[in-house]
Amino acid sequence: MVREWDPRTASSAEMASLLATLNAVLAADLPDDPPWRETSLREYLSEVMPGERRISWVAQAEAAVDGPPGAILGHVQVLLLGDIGVLEVLVHPDARRTGLGRTLVQLAARRTYQEGFQSVGVEVVGGTPAMAFFEALGFGRDYVETRSVLRLATVDWTAVGAMATGIGTGYRIEFCPGGPPDDLIESYARAKADSRDVGDVGDGELRPSSYDPQRLRDSLDCLHRRGMKPYIVFAIHERTGEVAGLTEVVVPAQHPTRADQYDTIVVPEHRGYGIDRAIKARMLLELRAAEPELTEVQTWNALANEAMLAVNAELGYRPDRQWCEYGADVAELVHRLDARTR
Ligand SMILES: CC(C)(COP(=O)(O)OP(=O)(O)OC[C@H]1O[C@@H](n2cnc3c(N)ncnc32)[C@H](O)[C@@H]1OP(=O)(O)O)[C@@H](O)C(=O)NCCC(=O)NCCS
Repeated sequence: MVREWDPRTASSAEMASLLATLNAVLAADLPDDPPWRETSLREYLSEVMPGERRISWVAQAEAAVDGPPGAILGHVQVLLLGDIGVLEVLVHPDARRTGLGRTLVQLAARRTYQEGFQSVGVEVVGGTPAMAFFEALGFGRDYVETRSVLRLATVDWTAVGAMATGIGTGYRIEFCPGGPPDDLIESYARAKADSRDVGDVGDGELRPSSYDPQRLRDSLDCLHRRGMKPYIVFAIHERTGEVAGLTEVVVPAQHPTRADQYDTIVVPEHRGYGIDRAIKARMLLELRAAEPELTEVQTWNALANEAMLAVNAELGYRPDRQWCEYGADVAELVHRLDARTR
């Protein structure tokens, strides 16, 4: 049975069943990724930024008469933002190749179309069945990034300590767990607006629509509500007090042993002073102290971003997988999927 599903009101048995399916998917497709925990999973699946909506469906196994509810075997959600619907879909490895994935995407695509959106996008992990799946559904590949993972056990902490202090004169570094102080938020927003093309391009909420101060505050609030704790290291240009560079890392309650690197930015006029290396090194030192459970950090970079890839390699990051953005015109997608099931 496939039905619309609201994580805010779902029973705890459903949440546990979805978590078990998610972890079975990870074990099958990304066996080196840490399993997820139930902590804040409900909030992770339901909280959104102002103006955005998330709509979900589940595929549930039939329950035996008088038995417990059937397991959740599949889940799809679409996040409606701007003019695009961003899809996430998963099917339990034991239930694959029966058409469930296609049915779930069809439901989400139809709703996206009905809501007046033009296109759908999805992030697909290289080397997993999802690539063949989305290609079979007629999606095209728009963009490819590399995910790299740093294992903290392999870090040369003496070298990282030296990197953290290797910044040009006239700059100081500030560590802001939880988010920036109010007096930095405008400069933080300006730095993000000025520097769209650089650094790590993290997942999610702190990019790319987060350029004005209120939007950034909303983004940080949304992260907190979803159980994702942001840490920011700033390089401040001392003469002007302006943000010259920043790096953001988020530790999700759902997998607190592996943190996600979000944006790293050096404002154009402050490049060439070792800021990127110093702020990322300082972040690692701070995270080691603040998050004792943490064992890994993952980051995503455009293949062309050689400067940030070099800094990441120096810190000990190792390329892991390709991360591909696929997209489709939603009207054409609905037409194709409906034609198949007619
Ligand atoms: C991608 C995923 C959702 C597909 O679910 P599914 O229920 O197996 O997909 P379907 O049975 O509807 O497959 C539809 C078509 O996709 C293609 N396809 C799906 N899996 C495939 C695979 N392993 N190899 C080749 N083609 C595949 C086939 O053309 C298939 O049609 P067919 O079975 O008639 O040949 C599932 O593998 C999954 O959960 N992956 C992990 C989560 C994920 O990566 N999601 C995407 C990012 S959000």
